[in-house]
Amino acid sequence: MSIDLDLTVRLGDLELKNPVVTASGTFASGREFADFVDLTRLGALVTKGVSAQPWQGNASPRIAETPSGMLNSIGLQNPGVDAFCERDLVWLAQHAAGLPVIVNVSGHSVEDYVAVVERLERESVVSAYEVNISCPNVDEGGLAFGTSCVAADQVVGACRAATRRPLIVKLSPNVTDITEIARAVEAAGADAVSLINTLLGMSIDVDTKRPHLARGFGGLSGPAIRPVAVRMVWQVARAVTVPVLGMGGIMTGRDAIEFLLAGASATAVGTANFVDPTATMRVIDGIEEYCREQGISRVRDLIGAVEA
Ligand SMILES: Cc1cc2nc3c(=O)[nH]c(=O)nc-3n(C[C@H](O)[C@H](O)[C@H](O)COP(=O)(O)O)c2cc1C
Repeated sequence: MSIDLDLTVRLGDLELKNPVVTASGTFASGREFADFVDLTRLGALVTKGVSAQPWQGNASPRIAETPSGMLNSIGLQNPGVDAFCERDLVWLAQHAAGLPVIVNVSGHSVEDYVAVVERLERESVVSAYEVNISCPNVDEGGLAFGTSCVAADQVVGACRAATRRPLIVKLSPNVTDITEIARAVEAAGADAVSLINTLLGMSIDVDTKRPHLARGFGGLSGPAIRPVAVRMVWQVARAVTVPVLGMGGIMTGRDAIEFLLAGASATAVGTANFVDPTATMRVIDGIEEYCREQGISRVRDLIGAVEA
């Protein structure tokens, strides 16, 4: 017997038609994926990180394959917020009407983050911000904000003052207790938290005796990090009252279900997009299939339903 299936979820004030969004930095601004994916089927599109000024990123090589995942040290390369608005947001408005667009915001200083938000406030196609305080690949800013409650409070408080749009704050797993940072950003005005960003990692070519990445170390993503991510989502979902956007190694619908059960209200697909550009569609189909098999009519009933 077929049942009506309600896949909608809420991320604060943001209503998503299903719980699958793109993970920042793994889907650019959608353009490169439009031939493979019906963008309007996504719950939301999260863009690559955008900063106030153009950012060159780190030296190559910046990507290395590892067992069950990859290491990257891209370093938030992007053309700056003005070029982003002219190229990417204009394209999105023309080609993906109705798709919620969440812009991932990066900066070297509190002022940088605020400048990006202020510039984006003029763009009606933007639905929400994801403030990245967790990038392991930049020397100043990024992770420095995500590993200190005081710095996280400052940057989130300043962004909060600059917008009434939903503010999602992206947390780093590279801390002793992720729930402390989650509580700090909730208190500073975050409407939701997203986690996890990449885990610090390193791999070495034993023939050349050099690290595979020019920068030495980088961020580990992909299936290898999924158990760490699920554990952190579970801990954070119990520590805060704001919704959680969960990610880390999701390849299939069943992987995404694991995050929902742990307490995530929505999920993001990252590294899987590099393996299969249609990964997001497969994950949506897989969630639907799971719900039908289990006789679940509302996907949101799964949120936090782990029996632990
Ligand atoms: C190549 C690459 C670039 C990324 N760039 C960003 C970024 O600009 N901003 C951000 O918040 N996260 C960035 N991330 C982190 C991902 O959004 C995601 O949190 C992480 O990869 C874990 O999910 P996954 O295992 O599904 O990839 C990047 C990840 C990768 C692999």
